[in-house]
Amino acid sequence: MMPVDNQSWGGRFTEAPKDAVAAYTQSQSFDRALAGQDIRASKAHARMLGETGILTPEESRAILDGLDHVLAEIQGGGFIWKQDLEDVHMNIEARLTELIGAAGKKLHTGRSRNDQVGLTFRLYVADHLVDWQNRVIELCNVLHRRATRHTQDILPGCTHLQPAQPVSLAHHLLAYAWMFRRDWLRMEDALKRVRVSPLGAAALAGATYPLNPQSVAREVGFAEIYENSLDAVSDRDFVLESLFCASTLMTHLSRLCEEIVLWANPAFGFVKLPDSYATGSSIMPQKKNPDVAELMRGKTGRVYGALTAMLTVMKGLPLAYNRDMQEDKEAFFDADATVRPSLHIMAGMMDELVFCTEKMSEACAAGFLNATELADYLVGKNIPFRDAHHTTGQAVRLAESRGKRLEELSLQELQTLEPRISEDVYTALDYATAVNRRETPGGTGPRAVASQLAHLNDWIYAHRTVKKHKRPLRP
Ligand code: ARG
Repeated sequence: MMPVDNQSWGGRFTEAPKDAVAAYTQSQSFDRALAGQDIRASKAHARMLGETGILTPEESRAILDGLDHVLAEIQGGGFIWKQDLEDVHMNIEARLTELIGAAGKKLHTGRSRNDQVGLTFRLYVADHLVDWQNRVIELCNVLHRRATRHTQDILPGCTHLQPAQPVSLAHHLLAYAWMFRRDWLRMEDALKRVRVSPLGAAALAGATYPLNPQSVAREVGFAEIYENSLDAVSDRDFVLESLFCASTLMTHLSRLCEEIVLWANPAFGFVKLPDSYATGSSIMPQKKNPDVAELMRGKTGRVYGALTAMLTVMKGLPLAYNRDMQEDKEAFFDADATVRPSLHIMAGMMDELVFCTEKMSEACAAGFLNATELADYLVGKNIPFRDAHHTTGQAVRLAESRGKRLEELSLQELQTLEPRISEDVYTALDYATAVNRRETPGGTGPRAVASQLAHLNDWIYAHRTVKKHKRPLRP
């Protein structure tokens, strides 16, 4: 039998894989998305091989120029991808060798696809985390802008989805901004562990050449290298963590979506969806459906799916590299394909959402949202809180039985419950007063909210300018 010579590993094989097997094991159809990162990593490796004298300066130079040429072909759409070359790495190397001859075959000196794919994918994941971070900042910026105008508008704050106490709309919106800031910080922290170069670990045990892994790391912009070659080629924590960041972010987006769905229901009527973020019904002409928010809530599951898939892939793997790990690409791609547009669309939707502030304040009046104020008022009259709470409960019962709000009860009615109540109770029962008095740090009072706004603004400003690109959002 003839040796199988169209495979980089074909030397010891006498039969090519069956077509179905080749199609099953290949990854070039999707991991070609990593071409830019693979070439960045290969150039760093080639430069290091030249610097350390493992290759001659001419060989190193030829490889660097050849890789630039391959990248241009890929970007120009002229590159011919071959399934029998399995993955992005072997496709690029084969084309390099076609272009520059023998030197191309030396690129892989001291390297294995195992450490190669590790570095390539780390570069890819890092690039995407930074992109997510920038989109998170854009969303926070929109929330900040909208919040600024609504520090005086109030709506029912809920617990158990039951009206509890009035809060300002600004305060409610800012609650989401802080969730998203934590997502940003989580990504920032994950990036520390993503940006660790495994190149030099080779297949699993390290290499016999005088490699300089630090110089490769430095060249690709990573601060650190691996400590253990076995760990280096089999660690996919960086994918897991990134997918966890994505999952938590989607949880936050989904909660905001749920809020929008509820608020758009005429029973609440707190928001009107912009036409461009809603759809109609094919049968019920009156309908304006919050499909965008629903879909985003629904797509959250896909991202959890990617995280769950990768946790499952990793849990049974012995050291070191195992082919199972090739599954990390599509899981991450799918999560990214959800996270990226979700952030962009949420920013746009929050920018254009119409707040019906009158409906919001009417809802405060309907739900005894000033009951705590009455209790606090009684405490101010030197009545112990537990007794004040009980008396207030009686007041709510009395108001309910007469079809009134608390502030509609007459002074005489209130005094039947507690004689120490006087005329000033009506100021305390005012809903705006309830918000304005809550000035504890992080509270809904206007001064406390103003300091939230300032703090958030400082953070947005610092990170919008520090991050390397402020490129326009693409969908
Ligand atoms: N396509 C592979 C992956 O994504 C590259 C590494 C393959 N290494 C190997 N020894 N088969 O993981």
